Amino acid sequence: MCKIAVYPGSFDPPTKGHLSLVERGLFVFDKIVVAVARNSAKAALFSIEERVDMLRESLSAYDPERVEVDSFEGLLVDYARKKNASALLRGLRATADFEYEFQMAMVNRHLEPSVQSVFLMTDYRWLYISSTIVKEAASYNADVSEMVPPVVVERLKRKFAF
Ligand code: PNS
Repeated sequence: MCKIAVYPGSFDPPTKGHLSLVERGLFVFDKIVVAVARNSAKAALFSIEERVDMLRESLSAYDPERVEVDSFEGLLVDYARKKNASALLRGLRATADFEYEFQMAMVNRHLEPSVQSVFLMTDYRWLYISSTIVKEAASYNADVSEMVPPVVVERLKRKFAF
């Protein structure tokens, strides 16, 4: 049986923390579908297509049978069902993430009890980074190359026209 997880998020932009989660998720799951949410309430810097592109390029070294990048609209559990996924994969950084993640996991479980939320701890190197922090730092022309993959560094430079 092939164990599939959907790893959903805004990925605006993808960070090394996200990539590290995919890497570790592959120890647990046969396949991970990295899914960019189209209906996120947050105002985004990058379009969905740009985010999908950046993820595809950053994850291109993986076997496409094991890592897929996609986008979805609507309820996450409906998308997970469509992808035959048995799990929703999310990363946890500090305790600050817990309440939001707990709430989402409870709602998703209520909506679809057969799909399990699975959390992996972020690698300590990426504990302090988030897409929001990366965007803020990059907007002031800070060097964010330690925090994001090269394609994202380039796209951020273009976005902020440095
Ligand atoms: O990276 P983010 O912004 O924390 O990801 C949030 C995301 C996209 C996982 C969440 O907003 C989501 O699942 N959206 C899809 C709509 C949905 O299913 N909502 C009900 C669960 S709370």
